[in-house]
Amino acid sequence: MSETRNEILKQLIIHKGEYVSGQMLSDAIGCSRTAVWKQVKELIHGGYEIESVNRKGYRLLSSSGQLTVTEIQTGLNTQTLGTRIHLYDQLPSTQKKAHYFAEEGAEEGTIVIAEEQTQGRGRLGRAWHSPKGTGIWMSTMLRPDIKPRQAPQLTLLTAVALVKAIKKAVGIECQIKWPNDILYKGKKLVGILTELQTETDSIRAVLVGTGLNVNQSKEDIPENLHDVATSLKIIKGEEVDRIRLIQCILEAFESLYLTYLQEGFNIIRLMWESYALTIGQSLTAQATNGETVTGIAQGIDEAGLLLLKDEQGTQYKVLSANIRSV
Ligand code: BTN
Repeated sequence: MSETRNEILKQLIIHKGEYVSGQMLSDAIGCSRTAVWKQVKELIHGGYEIESVNRKGYRLLSSSGQLTVTEIQTGLNTQTLGTRIHLYDQLPSTQKKAHYFAEEGAEEGTIVIAEEQTQGRGRLGRAWHSPKGTGIWMSTMLRPDIKPRQAPQLTLLTAVALVKAIKKAVGIECQIKWPNDILYKGKKLVGILTELQTETDSIRAVLVGTGLNVNQSKEDIPENLHDVATSLKIIKGEEVDRIRLIQCILEAFESLYLTYLQEGFNIIRLMWESYALTIGQSLTAQATNGETVTGIAQGIDEAGLLLLKDEQGTQYKVLSANIRSV
């Protein structure tokens, strides 16, 4: 998008719902009123609903539905998260791109978003279906001063941030299935993939990938996933504003991340447990000692590992292996 068009869009977003005069726009941007009108026409052509009234000016009624950095950043209430957003129409995977930026020395809080992923990555080597324009396919790059073994804590922190953001932006209360699935009435809405770049015993970068099913209709979800996956649109029965949702995610994430860095994991752990579906359930999983254990989920420990107690009362720690309800 041209610089002038971007600036006009920014002004219209700041004053959303109000009229902004052509004169005010041409003064603020430093171009003629004819140039303003030309750019407004381009915005309308691109899907923005903009009313134009004689002697009053222009009024933004609705966005194009596509993501733009300007719209995400305008009104975003964060210090660092989201100040550098790399947005693409299509990528193989935002995780792959975020790894690249991390290696190139990008600053903490760098975000990569794609409208579509052609090789979206899930956990355990699975593919992540990421159709165009319907989801939030996003990777966040962090450089926390923590040990690699503490990294699972960030997956749990992300899950808490997402539950809070979805509640705030969409009004839906979700639950967390350990360690990184966010479910609504038992169906998966969000997946989280945390990857690391490490040095001997320190972290160079953490790449937190979040895949959120937002505006998919039932037909957009692969048939083999109909019983296990859903989207916010299917739940709400209407389209959801992805821009507002991204803003809420970045704000919730940054706030929890700063708390975590200052006060440690315990407060995040307590929040996570309050949203967790897993606690009290009978599960089968692979414990850290390699054994396959069946037991009742008790909670999570200081490092972010799930605690399972078997029938004999022995407690096991479970890494983020594939767990099954029994
Ligand atoms: C899971 O298996 O549940 C995790 C899915 C994570 C998907 C997201 S989408 C954005 C980011 N880029 C990827 O390639 N994967 C993650």
